[in-house]
Amino acid sequence: MLIDTYGRVATDLRVSLTDRCNLRCTYCMPEEGLQWLAKPDLLTDDEIVRLITIAVRDLGIEEVRFTGGEPLLRPGLVGIVERVARLTPRPQMSLTTNGIGLARTATALRDAGLDRVNVSLDTLRPDVFQALTRRKRHDDVLRGLEAARAAGLTPVKVNTVLMPGLNDDEAPDLLAWAIENDYELRFIEQMPLDAQHGWKRDGMITAGDILASLRTRFELTAEGQEARGAAPAERWTVDGGPHRVGVIASVTRPFCRACDRTRLTADGQVRTCLFATEETDLRAALRSDAPDAEIGRIWKQAMWGKKAGSGLDDPSFLQPERPMSAIGG
Ligand code: 5AD
Ligand code: SF4
Repeated sequence: MLIDTYGRVATDLRVSLTDRCNLRCTYCMPEEGLQWLAKPDLLTDDEIVRLITIAVRDLGIEEVRFTGGEPLLRPGLVGIVERVARLTPRPQMSLTTNGIGLARTATALRDAGLDRVNVSLDTLRPDVFQALTRRKRHDDVLRGLEAARAAGLTPVKVNTVLMPGLNDDEAPDLLAWAIENDYELRFIEQMPLDAQHGWKRDGMITAGDILASLRTRFELTAEGQEARGAAPAERWTVDGGPHRVGVIASVTRPFCRACDRTRLTADGQVRTCLFATEETDLRAALRSDAPDAEIGRIWKQAMWGKKAGSGLDDPSFLQPERPMSAIGG
């Protein structure tokens, strides 16, 4: 098992398949993009599958989420999903994507064994989408969402980040749209993980703001803590149900005590937290022919060093060097 000194057990593995992206969301990346990881530094498909196999077979991982950057940009994605689906016990598999290209790949992913997707979409307005992502791809995302639902990658979840002055007036419209289309909407508070260090606590839209805005149009009823488990989203039923809305308040209502995650970057580093400033190298072990047991041991040791929390509220908080796009959501 992956267990830490606070008694938390990681059962959920997030694997970043690439740090590249075809959007440039302002809360994530600068206009010009970033210095991408070099090809030889990236884990190969075989290396990724080997690490996931160790995690599932030996370390108690029950759920694998593929992230990026944009994971659909990884050529081997479908093959990786197919191979992970053959593991015993078979883990749950999901994908966090910006939706571009999903219209083309949703069925193949489903057939390969993918269970669910989370698609990022911050706005219903094409012009605002372009301002937020610096690309004219709003339509691709909407088509990707529809394809995911049609392929049965359900429940299709939609992740939304609200940015002041851009889309912070859209929460009720987004919820009405999500209900109409049978998507499960979750708002994510903006976190200090952008490459350009532009995050400001004063500027961000908080869970409190989001709920107040939604309540101008909907009646929200909090779901109990038991329903939440280790999920980062707090959920509310909308107008008596069955539809729900979630808020992931990593900044104003952190959920570190229930955290059940471990993360792997595209270049083979274990991160115990989104906000961790330390990483543990598994790639070197992989490439020096270490046996599975040794790799498992290094991973367990990394987990043992997991910090109690994100440290966001500590005056000495330092943003991790690696930006969100290279960690995975
Ligand atoms: N704060 C909050 N959410 C972010 N995402 C990317 N960067 C940030 C940030 N700085 C979101 C994306 C995607 C998910 C992986 O995380 O929009 O939905
Ligand atoms: Fe790409 Fe996601 Fe970053 Fe947007 S938030 S630029 S979609 S990695």
